[in-house]
Amino acid sequence: MTQSLTLRRPDDWHLHLRAGAMLRAVLPFTAAQFGRAIVMPNLRPPVTDRAGARAYRDEIRAALPAGTDFRPLMTCYLTDRSDPDEIAAGHDEGLFTAVKLYPAHATTNSDQGVSELRLVMPVLERMQRIGLPLLVHGEVTDPAVDVFDREAVFIERVLAPLLRDLPALRVVFEHVTTADAVAFVRAEADSGRLGATITAHHLMINRSALFAGGIRPHLYCLPVAKRERHRLALVEAATSGAAAFFLGTDSAPHGITAKETACGCAGIFTAPAALELYAEVFDQAGRLDRLEDFASLNGPRFYGVPVNAGRVTLVREAWTVPERIDVSADTAVVPFRAGEPLGWRLVSSSV
Ligand code: DOR
Ligand code: ZN
Repeated sequence: MTQSLTLRRPDDWHLHLRAGAMLRAVLPFTAAQFGRAIVMPNLRPPVTDRAGARAYRDEIRAALPAGTDFRPLMTCYLTDRSDPDEIAAGHDEGLFTAVKLYPAHATTNSDQGVSELRLVMPVLERMQRIGLPLLVHGEVTDPAVDVFDREAVFIERVLAPLLRDLPALRVVFEHVTTADAVAFVRAEADSGRLGATITAHHLMINRSALFAGGIRPHLYCLPVAKRERHRLALVEAATSGAAAFFLGTDSAPHGITAKETACGCAGIFTAPAALELYAEVFDQAGRLDRLEDFASLNGPRFYGVPVNAGRVTLVREAWTVPERIDVSADTAVVPFRAGEPLGWRLVSSSV
């Protein structure tokens, strides 16, 4: 049995860091594990231009622990009023790594998202021309569509037409949760222009877990976890080594009181054990040898950036995920698998 595993230092291609005290509390976990992370722009107010992205990047850099080489990769939040010139200028100066499409009202802080795709076509056409990737939250918001079907319906109503109309646009289908999404991404694999991130939690839980013994607010996220057959399709995709699939935790911290309430926020906080969670999934699938492809190699290839120079080492060693992470005197966050044992532990990281 493999007892230790050394990988190229991985990256997190989908992460929520928030701002202020929350940022300062959660960032060290990600910086300890990953070389880079794509930082989501759904702050209040969202990061919609260069000035906002520069200020947010400065705040993240100021919150980094000493001695880390972690690099935040900034994204721009697309709105109905986004300006193609502003976004292209952010790309030119190396500020924007990607642009994020939230369908309006699809999820946390998405009320300023895109109400109709035709309104942002000039921006998408420019992105296609300059090679700037679009990251999509792939769920329709039509209230008539069942919440468990919103990703599959998004493929047929939005994503397939978008890829057809903009044949050179590079797109990442974020946090895929269904066998339908896996099949769609695989069918586009030859083009090399459609990637997909997969979270650790969607590899580990199905929708029954949300109701095991009572309602489990800390397992609620969007897209919501689906049936077991979908989870199995995600595990197969992630552990296959296929180039289109790469690591994106979607670690999304919310204070306990925002989760444990009558109308709780969507988001699962996986950062404190991110790589260890993925290692557990790959180990159980008998595919530890593919973890490096998924975590460290496929993402840089898609984004056209070098892999990280450093290495990380995981060992087979039991430890317990903390019950909570303190954010401030009156706020804490509950991590995924809080108080539960994990079988893999990150022990070293070199830059
Ligand atoms: O569960 C989620 N949380 N899904 C999202 O799309 C947004 C995220 C957040 O920002 O909390
Ligand atoms: Zn997200």
